[in-house]
Amino acid sequence: MTDDEREAALEAIAAEVRVCTSCRLHEGRTRAVPGEGSASTEVVFVGEGPGFHEDREGRPFVGRAGALLTTLLGSVGWRREDVFITNVVKCRPPENRDPAPDEIAACAPYLRRQLEVLDPALVVTLGRHSLGTFMPGARISQVHGTARPADPGRGPQAALVFAMYHPAAALRTPEIERQCVIDMAAVPATLAAARARRSSAGRAAPAPAGPAQPEMTMTDQTPDQAARPAAAATPPPGPDHSAPSGPVPADPAADQLTLF
Ligand code: URA
Ligand code: SF4
Repeated sequence: MTDDEREAALEAIAAEVRVCTSCRLHEGRTRAVPGEGSASTEVVFVGEGPGFHEDREGRPFVGRAGALLTTLLGSVGWRREDVFITNVVKCRPPENRDPAPDEIAACAPYLRRQLEVLDPALVVTLGRHSLGTFMPGARISQVHGTARPADPGRGPQAALVFAMYHPAAALRTPEIERQCVIDMAAVPATLAAARARRSSAGRAAPAPAGPAQPEMTMTDQTPDQAARPAAAATPPPGPDHSAPSGPVPADPAADQLTLF
């Protein structure tokens, strides 16, 4: 799929989400929040569901938790626009209550389809409900900061899932904020490990359209992307520009992440 096709496919899903009435959450929403970000990214962040501000704007993570997420991304040299950000439920639960299991189930096909289209190397779960979707039965206090292979039935065909606490929990508890900073610092190396795993599984990044991806450079990107701050350890998440044997610090990272 080309980037344009991916963008069109994501927009088609978003259009369905905006008029969806598949669960009771549609009754109280102002605007549904399909998600946003780069259609060519390798990394998808999945939160819980829209809050007050997200519901008004129709965009994910635009309130205080969103500001913290943006700061956390910045701490590894990434920008929101480099990744895709969405939620397990696309409409705001009343009073910000937890989404109910039947609501999560009703909304799951949208997330699965988004992940099929994006086919990321890495899915980062934010909070318990997102964790429950990708690592059923796992306890966030035990698995945050760790990765495991994603179930292809959830959409991504060859991805790692990396668990983090929800930024809203970090806003309430300084120790959780500290853990979020530590965990986010491991995300670029986890992406490198995820890329290496895809390569060694004989899967390149999504099929290149036109020029072969290994030949792509920053100059092939939009001026906006090219201008982004240099990432520390790993290039910002985009289509995998590195050859399978690329100089990403994947091996040490993969060793440290003895999780899969
Ligand atoms: N919390 C979430 O889980 N998602 C959002 O989009 C905003 C806050
Ligand atoms: Fe549809 Fe999901 Fe909104 Fe429920 S939460 S109405 S399933 S888009």
